[in-house]
Formats: sequence, C-alpha cells, structure tokens
Amino acid sequence: MKGVVLAGGLGTRLSPLTQVTNKHLLPVYDKPMIYYPIETLIRAGIRDIMIVTGGNSAGDFLRLLGNGNDFGLKDLYYTYQRGEGGIAEALSLAEYFADGEKVVVILGDNIIEDDMAGFVKKFKKQKNGARIFLKEVADPERFGVPEIRNGKIVRIDEKPKKPKSQYAVTGIYMYDEHVFKIIKTLKPSERGELEISDVNNHYVKDGTLEFDVLKGFWTDAGTFESLFHANSLVHEKRRK
Ligand code: G1P
Repeated sequence: MKGVVLAGGLGTRLSPLTQVTNKHLLPVYDKPMIYYPIETLIRAGIRDIMIVTGGNSAGDFLRLLGNGNDFGLKDLYYTYQRGEGGIAEALSLAEYFADGEKVVVILGDNIIEDDMAGFVKKFKKQKNGARIFLKEVADPERFGVPEIRNGKIVRIDEKPKKPKSQYAVTGIYMYDEHVFKIIKTLKPSERGELEISDVNNHYVKDGTLEFDVLKGFWTDAGTFESLFHANSLVHEKRRK
C-alpha cells in the first residue's frame, strides 16, 4: 500500500504566518508540521510515500525532507499542485505514483496520536472501497461530518451549518484503486475546490465506505486556534 501526504494550498487561514512559507513547514512544538503525517504513515508500516506540495516555498520541502533518509526511508517522491484546486485534486496528482495499488492519504496538517498500523491491516483485508476515521469534536461544523444510521455512514456533509453528528471526518483516508476514476467525475464545490467529502460520498453510495473511530488525540492545524491546540497536545504528550 502506498502513502500520500497532501501538503498543498496557500494556507490563507494562517496569514501572515504563511506569507513567506508553506503552512506545512510551520512548527508544531519541536518539529515542522509535515513531520507528523509522515511519521504517522511510517508508524503504520507505509514505506512508499509521495508528498504533494504546492503554493509557497515548495523547494523548502526538498531541503527539509530530502530523500527521506532521516525517517529511515530509501526515497521520497514529490509532485506539485498548482493553485488551490482542493484536496481531491491534489490526490489526483498521485495517480501515476499509486500505480493501481491501494493508498493511504493523509492531510499535511493533521496530527494523529493513534497508531494506524492495525487499520492498515484491516484495509488490506477489505475487498474494496474506502475506509475513513472519525473523531468526536466540539465543533463539527468546521469539518466533514458523517450522518450515521444503524452503524453505517449514510452521507457526509462538508462544513454543515447543522451537523448531523458530533463527529469530524479526520484527514486520513484509505482508498482502493477506483479513487482516481471517482475524482475525474467530481465538480468543484462552492469554494471552487474538488472536495474529499464528495469522493467519500461516492463510496457511501456504492455501499463500500467503512469507518473506525480514533481513540487518541487528533487535530488539524490549519487555523490559529487549531495550530495552537496542536502545539499544546504535542507538548503535553512529550512531557508525559
Ligand atoms: C478538510 C476536509 C474536511 C476534513 C478536514 C480534516 O477540511 O475538507 O472534510 O474534516 O480537512 O482536517 P479543510 O482543512 O480543507 O477545511
């Protein structure tokens, strides 16, 4: 199974911090933000990893991460997303890299405490479809939010005004090889992006979307509040 870290976008919600650098290179306690999703994939046993970057300072990713040797990898793969076409568009750039295999996709600003290795094993056994990961949050309206009936997700709303549950769809996703075909059918949302929630709703309609609920802490780090929160969560964990 291959891993893809999505680290594009302009990070406008963090301006002026992102005026001269990329959001994913900002510090989260003692490491650049992008280290966390890379380490999450490696802990899960994923060794073939592509970074999709974009926006400002793309060259700094190479300077920072090189060929991934510091993480014990033999190599790292990179590609570049022009503009802000959304998460699903960024993922579409990894089609050639995925080469027909299943993929684990993680957003470059997601900090996940759980060890995902068990979930990767589960997804290897899952015949087809997708697997997403939920976490109960106080502010679901900031995220993709699932509506769950009889233990099954029946749809996902992107940033709903009236959330149908207290869960956020976290930024780690597992997809079968059909994901790239699905992305080609998507239309831009109101914010002008190809939405990952639309990809997931496709799998909901197919009846092949499975999910788990994360046990450890989870946060994104794309706003001042969540970036500050991410710093304190990691700080707290290091102190223990
Ligand atoms: C994105 C997704 C959203 C998901 C979130 C997780 O939101 O669109 O469904 O819940 O990541 O971090 P964005 O960060 O683009 O607002």
